[in-house]
Amino acid sequence: MKILFIGDVVGSPGREMVQEYLPKLKEKYRPTMTIINGENAAAGKGITEKIYRQFLEWGAQVITMGNHTWDKKEIYEFIDDAKYLIRPANFPENNPGKGIVYLNINGVLVAVINIQGRTFLQAIDDPFQKIDQLIEEAKKKTNIIFVDFHGEATSEKQAFGWYVDGRVSAVVGTHTHTQTADERILPEGTAYITDAGMTGPYDGILGVERDAVLKRFLTSLPVRFEITKTGRKQLNGVLIIVDANSGKAEKIERILINDDHPFFG
Ligand SMILES: [Fe+2]
Ligand SMILES: [Fe+2]
Repeated sequence: MKILFIGDVVGSPGREMVQEYLPKLKEKYRPTMTIINGENAAAGKGITEKIYRQFLEWGAQVITMGNHTWDKKEIYEFIDDAKYLIRPANFPENNPGKGIVYLNINGVLVAVINIQGRTFLQAIDDPFQKIDQLIEEAKKKTNIIFVDFHGEATSEKQAFGWYVDGRVSAVVGTHTHTQTADERILPEGTAYITDAGMTGPYDGILGVERDAVLKRFLTSLPVRFEITKTGRKQLNGVLIIVDANSGKAEKIERILINDDHPFFG
C-alpha cells in the first residue's frame, strides 16, 4: 500500500502544481491512494466546494484541513455532504463535518484521520486523548491508519508521533509550510515527518506575498496578506509505503519539486 500525501496546497499556484504534477507523481510512484491537505487551497484561506471536487477529479481520494477549515463560509453548506473531506477531529463536538474517513481501496480498508495540535494554535480538545478514541474505533476495522497532524510546534508533533508509534501507520505533520528533513520510521513501525511542507509559491514567505510579510516585520503595522500569484512554484509532499496486513510502515520518502529540486519522472 503506497500513500502519496501532498502538503498544504496554497491558492491558485498550489492548485496549478497539483494539476500539473499529480499525474506525473502517479506515473512515477503508482500510489494506491492520494491525500491532499487543502486548508489553504482557496486563496490561502479555506476551501470551496469547487476546489474540493477538482482535487477529487485530479485523482485525490481524501482532502484534509486544519486551522483554516472555516475561512470560506460556504464550507458550512457542503462539508456534511463532502464524504472525502475531513477537518481536525478534535474540534469541539458540535462542529460540522468529521475528522476521520474510511476508504475501501480494492478491498483494503484505510482510515484517514485529521487532527490538530494546540500549542501556539487554538485551544481545542486534547489531540492525545482524541487520537486514543479514534485509534480504538479504527482498529476494529483496519490496521492501516494515516494521520495528518496539523500543528505549529515541532515538540508537540514529535511527542504525538512517539505517542502513537506502533498504533498508526503514519503521522505526517502539516501547517508550518516548510518541509522538515526528519522523516523516519519510528521503532514500532509508524512513519513520521514533522512537516510535509507546502505546495504553492516558491518565492513568497510560506506562500504569502513577500513584501507584505516584510512590511509587517519591518513596521509592526497591520498589513493585508495576499498569496503570491505569479512567479516560481513548488510542490511538497511525502510517499509512504505501508504493509497492508500489519499496517506498519516500511518506507517514507520526501517529495520536493521546485527549481532547485527538479522533478525526474
Ligand atoms: Fe497551511
Ligand atoms: Fe494551518
